[in-house]
Amino acid sequence: MTDFVSIVEVGPRDGLQNETQTLPTALRIEFINRLSDCGIPVIEAGSFVSPKWVPQMAGSAEVLTGINLLPGTRYPVLVPNLQGFQLAVAAGAKEIVLFTAASESFSQRNTNCSMAESIARLKPVAEQARTAGLRVRAYVSCVLGCPYEGDIKASAVATVCEQLMQLDCDEISLGDTIGAGTPSQASNLIKLLTTVTPVEQLAVHFHDTYGQALANILASLDAGIRTIDTAVAGLGGCPYAPGASGNVASEDVLYMLEGLGLETGINLQTLAVTGEWISKQLHRPNNSKAGVALCNQNK
Ligand code: HMG
Ligand code: MG
Repeated sequence: MTDFVSIVEVGPRDGLQNETQTLPTALRIEFINRLSDCGIPVIEAGSFVSPKWVPQMAGSAEVLTGINLLPGTRYPVLVPNLQGFQLAVAAGAKEIVLFTAASESFSQRNTNCSMAESIARLKPVAEQARTAGLRVRAYVSCVLGCPYEGDIKASAVATVCEQLMQLDCDEISLGDTIGAGTPSQASNLIKLLTTVTPVEQLAVHFHDTYGQALANILASLDAGIRTIDTAVAGLGGCPYAPGASGNVASEDVLYMLEGLGLETGINLQTLAVTGEWISKQLHRPNNSKAGVALCNQNK
Protein backbone atom coordinates (compact mmCIF):
# COMPACT_ATOMS: atom_id res chain seq x y z
CA MET A 1 0.00 0.00 0.00
CA THR A 2 1.35 3.40 -1.00
CA ASP A 3 2.53 6.03 1.49
CA PHE A 4 0.89 8.78 -0.55
CA VAL A 5 -2.55 10.00 0.50
CA SER A 6 -4.57 12.00 -2.00
CA ILE A 7 -6.49 14.85 -0.37
CA VAL A 8 -9.64 16.09 -2.09
CA GLU A 9 -10.32 19.61 -0.82
CA VAL A 10 -14.09 20.16 -0.80
CA GLY A 11 -14.20 23.55 0.99
CA PRO A 12 -15.06 25.63 -2.10
CA ARG A 13 -18.09 23.38 -2.73
CA ASP A 14 -19.24 21.44 0.33
CA GLY A 15 -18.04 24.28 2.55
CA LEU A 16 -19.47 27.28 0.76
CA GLN A 17 -22.75 25.57 -0.23
CA ASN A 18 -23.74 25.60 3.43
CA GLU A 19 -22.89 29.19 4.31
CA THR A 20 -25.83 31.55 4.80
CA GLN A 21 -24.07 34.25 2.82
CA THR A 22 -23.09 33.69 -0.80
CA LEU A 23 -19.42 34.45 -1.27
CA PRO A 24 -18.80 36.75 -4.27
CA THR A 25 -17.33 35.03 -7.34
CA ALA A 26 -14.03 36.93 -7.05
CA LEU A 27 -13.52 35.62 -3.52
CA ARG A 28 -14.43 32.06 -4.53
CA ILE A 29 -11.79 32.32 -7.25
CA GLU A 30 -9.18 33.70 -4.85
CA PHE A 31 -10.03 30.92 -2.37
CA ILE A 32 -9.40 28.19 -4.95
CA ASN A 33 -6.22 29.86 -6.22
CA ARG A 34 -4.89 30.01 -2.66
CA LEU A 35 -5.72 26.30 -2.16
CA SER A 36 -3.97 25.44 -5.43
CA ASP A 37 -0.88 27.28 -4.20
CA CYS A 38 -0.82 25.02 -1.12
CA GLY A 39 -0.13 22.04 -3.38
CA ILE A 40 -3.53 20.36 -2.98
CA PRO A 41 -3.90 17.82 -5.81
CA VAL A 42 -7.72 17.87 -6.12
CA ILE A 43 -9.99 20.85 -5.38
CA GLU A 44 -13.77 20.66 -5.79
CA ALA A 45 -14.33 23.95 -7.53
CA GLY A 46 -18.11 24.26 -7.59
CA SER A 47 -21.44 22.73 -8.36
CA PHE A 48 -23.67 22.89 -11.44
CA VAL A 49 -26.88 22.20 -9.53
CA SER A 50 -30.08 24.21 -9.66
CA PRO A 51 -29.40 27.69 -8.21
CA LYS A 52 -32.93 27.58 -6.80
CA TRP A 53 -31.90 24.60 -4.68
CA VAL A 54 -28.41 25.78 -3.71
CA PRO A 55 -28.02 29.52 -4.43
CA GLN A 56 -24.51 29.60 -2.91
CA MET A 57 -23.19 27.59 -5.88
CA ALA A 58 -24.67 29.90 -8.57
CA GLY A 59 -21.89 31.31 -10.73
CA SER A 60 -19.81 28.11 -10.68
CA ALA A 61 -19.16 28.57 -14.42
CA GLU A 62 -17.54 31.97 -13.75
CA VAL A 63 -15.52 30.40 -10.93
CA LEU A 64 -14.28 27.51 -13.09
CA THR A 65 -13.32 29.79 -15.96
CA GLY A 66 -11.77 32.38 -13.62
CA ILE A 67 -9.35 30.25 -11.59
CA ASN A 68 -5.71 29.54 -12.43
CA LEU A 69 -5.77 25.90 -13.50
CA LEU A 70 -2.47 24.51 -12.29
CA PRO A 71 -1.09 21.64 -14.35
CA GLY A 72 -1.34 18.45 -12.34
CA THR A 73 -4.15 19.79 -10.15
CA ARG A 74 -7.70 18.51 -10.74
CA TYR A 75 -10.78 20.71 -10.34
CA PRO A 76 -13.89 18.46 -10.27
CA VAL A 77 -17.39 19.97 -10.14
CA LEU A 78 -20.70 18.49 -8.99
CA VAL A 79 -23.29 17.66 -11.63
CA PRO A 80 -26.81 16.38 -10.79
CA ASN A 81 -28.22 15.83 -14.30
CA LEU A 82 -27.58 16.32 -18.02
CA GLN A 83 -28.42 20.02 -17.77
CA GLY A 84 -25.67 20.52 -15.20
CA PHE A 85 -23.30 18.33 -17.22
CA GLN A 86 -23.70 20.50 -20.33
CA LEU A 87 -23.10 23.67 -18.31
CA ALA A 88 -20.03 22.13 -16.65
CA VAL A 89 -18.53 21.03 -19.98
CA ALA A 90 -19.19 24.48 -21.49
CA ALA A 91 -17.23 25.96 -18.56
CA GLY A 92 -14.30 23.65 -19.30
CA ALA A 93 -14.76 20.97 -16.62
CA LYS A 94 -12.40 18.01 -17.03
CA GLU A 95 -13.84 16.01 -14.16
CA ILE A 96 -17.41 15.73 -12.91
CA VAL A 97 -18.79 14.47 -9.63
CA LEU A 98 -22.10 12.63 -9.60
CA PHE A 99 -24.01 12.28 -6.35
CA THR A 100 -26.61 9.91 -5.03
CA ALA A 101 -27.52 8.40 -1.65
CA ALA A 102 -28.04 5.16 0.23
CA SER A 103 -31.24 6.56 1.76
CA GLU A 104 -34.57 7.05 -0.03
CA SER A 105 -35.59 10.04 2.12
CA PHE A 106 -32.28 11.84 1.63
CA SER A 107 -32.37 11.18 -2.11
CA GLN A 108 -35.83 12.78 -2.30
CA ARG A 109 -34.86 15.83 -0.25
CA ASN A 110 -31.50 16.33 -1.96
CA THR A 111 -32.34 15.60 -5.58
CA ASN A 112 -36.13 15.30 -5.74
CA CYS A 113 -36.08 11.68 -6.90
CA SER A 114 -35.86 8.13 -5.58
CA MET A 115 -32.56 6.23 -5.38
CA ALA A 116 -33.45 4.21 -8.48
CA GLU A 117 -34.47 7.35 -10.39
CA SER A 118 -31.22 8.98 -9.32
CA ILE A 119 -29.11 6.19 -10.85
CA ALA A 120 -31.24 6.30 -14.02
CA ARG A 121 -30.73 10.07 -14.20
CA LEU A 122 -26.97 9.75 -13.73
CA LYS A 123 -26.51 6.97 -16.31
CA PRO A 124 -26.60 9.19 -19.44
CA VAL A 125 -24.44 11.78 -17.65
CA ALA A 126 -21.78 9.16 -16.91
CA GLU A 127 -22.00 7.85 -20.50
CA GLN A 128 -21.59 11.30 -22.03
CA ALA A 129 -18.75 12.12 -19.64
CA ARG A 130 -16.96 8.91 -20.65
CA THR A 131 -17.44 9.67 -24.36
CA ALA A 132 -16.03 13.17 -23.79
CA GLY A 133 -13.03 11.67 -21.94
CA LEU A 134 -13.90 13.22 -18.58
CA ARG A 135 -13.00 11.66 -15.26
CA VAL A 136 -16.05 10.65 -13.20
CA ARG A 137 -16.15 10.70 -9.42
CA ALA A 138 -19.31 9.83 -7.48
CA TYR A 139 -20.63 10.37 -3.98
CA VAL A 140 -22.85 8.10 -1.97
CA SER A 141 -24.42 10.10 0.85
CA CYS A 142 -25.67 8.78 4.20
CA VAL A 143 -23.37 5.74 4.23
CA LEU A 144 -23.27 5.66 8.05
CA GLY A 145 -26.63 7.21 8.86
CA CYS A 146 -29.38 9.40 7.49
CA PRO A 147 -30.84 12.59 9.01
CA TYR A 148 -34.35 11.33 8.20
CA GLU A 149 -34.11 7.53 8.46
CA GLY A 150 -31.41 6.93 11.09
CA ASP A 151 -29.37 3.76 10.57
CA ILE A 152 -28.52 2.74 7.02
CA LYS A 153 -27.74 -0.88 6.14
CA ALA A 154 -24.22 -1.47 4.81
CA SER A 155 -25.79 -3.76 2.18
CA ALA A 156 -27.77 -0.75 0.85
CA VAL A 157 -24.53 1.19 0.44
CA ALA A 158 -22.96 -1.80 -1.34
CA THR A 159 -25.87 -1.94 -3.79
CA VAL A 160 -25.42 1.74 -4.69
CA CYS A 161 -21.65 1.25 -5.09
CA GLU A 162 -22.30 -1.65 -7.44
CA GLN A 163 -24.62 0.51 -9.52
CA LEU A 164 -22.03 3.29 -9.68
CA MET A 165 -19.34 0.80 -10.72
CA GLN A 166 -21.68 -0.28 -13.54
CA LEU A 167 -21.71 3.38 -14.62
CA ASP A 168 -17.91 3.06 -14.88
CA CYS A 169 -17.12 5.66 -12.22
CA ASP A 170 -13.43 6.15 -11.54
CA GLU A 171 -13.88 6.76 -7.84
CA ILE A 172 -16.63 6.50 -5.24
CA SER A 173 -16.54 8.77 -2.21
CA LEU A 174 -18.36 7.47 0.85
CA GLY A 175 -20.20 10.32 2.52
CA ASP A 176 -20.87 10.20 6.24
CA THR A 177 -23.17 13.14 5.60
CA ILE A 178 -24.27 13.67 9.20
CA GLY A 179 -20.99 12.63 10.82
CA ALA A 180 -22.66 9.92 12.90
CA GLY A 181 -20.31 7.03 12.15
CA THR A 182 -17.69 5.54 14.46
CA PRO A 183 -14.38 3.82 13.56
CA SER A 184 -15.52 0.20 13.74
CA GLN A 185 -18.59 0.99 11.60
CA ALA A 186 -16.37 2.78 9.07
CA SER A 187 -13.90 -0.06 8.87
CA ASN A 188 -16.61 -2.77 8.63
CA LEU A 189 -18.34 -0.83 5.86
CA ILE A 190 -15.12 -0.44 3.86
CA LYS A 191 -14.36 -4.16 4.25
CA LEU A 192 -17.80 -5.01 2.84
CA LEU A 193 -17.55 -2.48 0.02
CA THR A 194 -14.21 -3.79 -1.19
CA THR A 195 -16.13 -6.87 -2.33
CA VAL A 196 -17.82 -4.66 -4.97
CA THR A 197 -15.32 -1.79 -5.45
CA PRO A 198 -11.50 -2.02 -5.35
CA VAL A 199 -10.20 -0.11 -2.34
CA GLU A 200 -8.07 2.08 -4.67
CA GLN A 201 -11.33 3.42 -6.13
CA LEU A 202 -12.88 4.27 -2.76
CA ALA A 203 -12.56 7.60 -0.94
CA VAL A 204 -13.93 8.70 2.42
CA HIS A 205 -15.84 11.91 3.17
CA PHE A 206 -16.40 12.50 6.88
CA HIS A 207 -18.29 15.27 8.59
CA ASP A 208 -17.27 15.92 12.20
CA THR A 209 -20.63 16.37 13.96
CA TYR A 210 -19.81 13.91 16.75
CA GLY A 211 -16.03 14.51 16.77
CA GLN A 212 -15.37 11.09 15.18
CA ALA A 213 -13.94 12.19 11.84
CA LEU A 214 -10.20 11.83 12.56
CA ALA A 215 -10.71 8.48 14.27
CA ASN A 216 -12.83 7.33 11.33
CA ILE A 217 -10.10 8.40 8.91
CA LEU A 218 -7.47 6.47 10.86
CA ALA A 219 -9.68 3.38 10.71
CA SER A 220 -10.21 3.97 6.97
CA LEU A 221 -6.45 4.25 6.39
CA ASP A 222 -6.01 0.93 8.21
CA ALA A 223 -8.63 -0.54 5.88
CA GLY A 224 -6.55 0.58 2.87
CA ILE A 225 -8.18 3.89 1.91
CA ARG A 226 -5.76 6.43 0.37
CA THR A 227 -8.14 9.18 -0.82
CA ILE A 228 -9.66 11.50 1.77
CA ASP A 229 -12.07 14.41 1.34
CA THR A 230 -11.44 17.35 3.68
CA ALA A 231 -12.36 21.04 3.94
CA VAL A 232 -9.99 23.76 5.07
CA ALA A 233 -11.01 25.38 8.38
CA GLY A 234 -13.61 22.61 8.75
CA LEU A 235 -16.03 24.45 6.46
CA GLY A 236 -19.13 22.68 5.40
CA GLY A 237 -22.31 20.83 5.99
CA CYS A 238 -25.13 19.87 3.73
CA PRO A 239 -28.22 22.03 3.13
CA TYR A 240 -30.33 18.83 3.11
CA ALA A 241 -28.82 17.28 6.27
CA PRO A 242 -30.12 19.32 9.21
CA GLY A 243 -27.72 19.32 12.17
CA ALA A 244 -24.74 18.09 10.17
CA SER A 245 -21.61 20.02 11.03
CA GLY A 246 -18.64 20.81 8.86
CA ASN A 247 -16.33 18.49 7.02
CA VAL A 248 -13.26 17.24 8.80
CA ALA A 249 -10.70 20.06 8.67
CA SER A 250 -7.96 19.67 6.05
CA GLU A 251 -5.31 21.05 8.41
CA ASP A 252 -6.21 18.52 11.15
CA VAL A 253 -6.05 15.61 8.71
CA LEU A 254 -2.75 16.82 7.28
CA TYR A 255 -1.23 17.20 10.75
CA MET A 256 -2.24 13.62 11.54
CA LEU A 257 -0.98 12.27 8.21
CA GLU A 258 2.39 14.00 8.64
CA GLY A 259 2.63 12.38 12.09
CA LEU A 260 1.96 9.00 10.47
CA GLY A 261 4.72 9.62 7.90
CA LEU A 262 2.21 9.69 5.01
CA GLU A 263 2.88 12.06 2.09
CA THR A 264 0.32 14.47 0.59
CA GLY A 265 2.45 17.04 -1.25
CA ILE A 266 0.59 19.82 0.60
CA ASN A 267 2.22 22.67 2.52
CA LEU A 268 0.49 22.63 5.92
CA GLN A 269 1.66 26.10 6.97
CA THR A 270 0.29 27.75 3.84
CA LEU A 271 -2.92 25.77 4.22
CA ALA A 272 -3.32 26.99 7.81
CA VAL A 273 -2.98 30.60 6.63
CA THR A 274 -5.61 29.93 3.94
CA GLY A 275 -7.94 28.49 6.59
CA GLU A 276 -7.60 31.65 8.70
CA TRP A 277 -8.14 33.82 5.63
CA ILE A 278 -11.36 32.09 4.47
CA SER A 279 -12.73 32.05 8.03
CA LYS A 280 -12.27 35.83 8.18
CA GLN A 281 -13.94 36.30 4.77
CA LEU A 282 -16.93 34.32 6.02
CA HIS A 283 -16.96 36.01 9.47
CA ARG A 284 -16.97 32.61 11.15
CA PRO A 285 -14.63 30.85 13.58
CA ASN A 286 -11.82 28.72 12.21
CA ASN A 287 -12.95 25.15 13.00
CA SER A 288 -9.54 23.55 12.50
CA LYS A 289 -7.73 22.94 15.78
CA ALA A 290 -4.40 22.36 14.02
CA GLY A 291 -4.99 25.44 11.85
CA VAL A 292 -5.63 27.68 14.86
CA ALA A 293 -2.63 26.24 16.75
CA LEU A 294 -0.28 26.72 13.80
CA CYS A 295 -1.45 30.30 13.20
CA ASN A 296 -1.05 31.12 16.91
CA GLN A 297 2.52 29.74 16.89
CA ASN A 298 3.41 32.09 14.05
CA LYS A 299 2.02 35.23 15.68
P1 HMG B 1 -36.02 19.48 -9.82
O1 HMG B 1 -36.71 20.69 -9.30
O2 HMG B 1 -36.69 18.15 -9.68
O3 HMG B 1 -35.51 19.67 -11.34
O4 HMG B 1 -34.59 19.42 -9.10
P2 HMG B 1 -36.22 19.91 -12.70
O5 HMG B 1 -35.48 19.11 -13.70
O6 HMG B 1 -37.71 19.72 -12.56
O7 HMG B 1 -35.93 21.46 -12.98
C1 HMG B 1 -36.51 22.48 -12.20
C2 HMG B 1 -35.82 23.80 -12.51
O8 HMG B 1 -34.42 23.71 -12.17
C3 HMG B 1 -35.86 24.16 -13.99
O9 HMG B 1 -35.86 25.58 -14.06
C4 HMG B 1 -34.54 23.67 -14.51
O10 HMG B 1 -34.11 24.40 -15.64
C5 HMG B 1 -33.62 23.98 -13.33
P3 HMG B 1 -37.24 26.40 -14.27
O11 HMG B 1 -37.84 25.84 -15.53
O12 HMG B 1 -38.08 26.12 -13.05
O13 HMG B 1 -36.76 27.82 -14.35
N1 HMG B 1 -32.46 23.07 -13.28
C6 HMG B 1 -31.19 23.48 -13.30
N2 HMG B 1 -30.62 24.72 -13.35
C7 HMG B 1 -29.28 24.77 -13.36
N3 HMG B 1 -28.47 23.68 -13.31
C8 HMG B 1 -29.00 22.45 -13.26
C9 HMG B 1 -30.42 22.31 -13.26
N4 HMG B 1 -31.23 21.25 -13.23
C10 HMG B 1 -32.49 21.71 -13.26
N5 HMG B 1 -28.19 21.38 -13.22
C11 HMG B 1 -32.26 18.87 -9.13
C12 HMG B 1 -33.67 18.37 -9.37
C13 HMG B 1 -31.34 17.67 -9.11
C14 HMG B 1 -31.86 19.83 -10.24
C15 HMG B 1 -32.22 19.62 -7.77
O14 HMG B 1 -32.76 18.79 -6.81
C16 HMG B 1 -30.84 20.03 -7.36
O15 HMG B 1 -30.21 20.87 -7.99
N6 HMG B 1 -30.34 19.44 -6.27
C17 HMG B 1 -29.00 19.70 -5.79
C18 HMG B 1 -28.93 19.60 -4.29
C19 HMG B 1 -27.52 19.81 -3.85
O16 HMG B 1 -26.71 20.43 -4.52
N7 HMG B 1 -27.18 19.30 -2.65
C20 HMG B 1 -25.87 19.41 -2.09
C21 HMG B 1 -24.87 18.53 -2.78
S1 HMG B 1 -24.89 16.87 -2.16
C22 HMG B 1 -23.95 16.95 -0.71
O17 HMG B 1 -23.60 18.01 -0.27
C23 HMG B 1 -23.46 15.68 -0.07
C24 HMG B 1 -21.99 15.42 -0.34
O18 HMG B 1 -21.16 16.44 0.19
C25 HMG B 1 -21.55 14.08 0.26
C26 HMG B 1 -21.99 13.90 1.69
O19 HMG B 1 -21.52 14.61 2.60
O20 HMG B 1 -22.84 13.02 1.89
C27 HMG B 1 -21.73 15.37 -1.83
MG1 MG C 1 -20.51 16.51 2.37
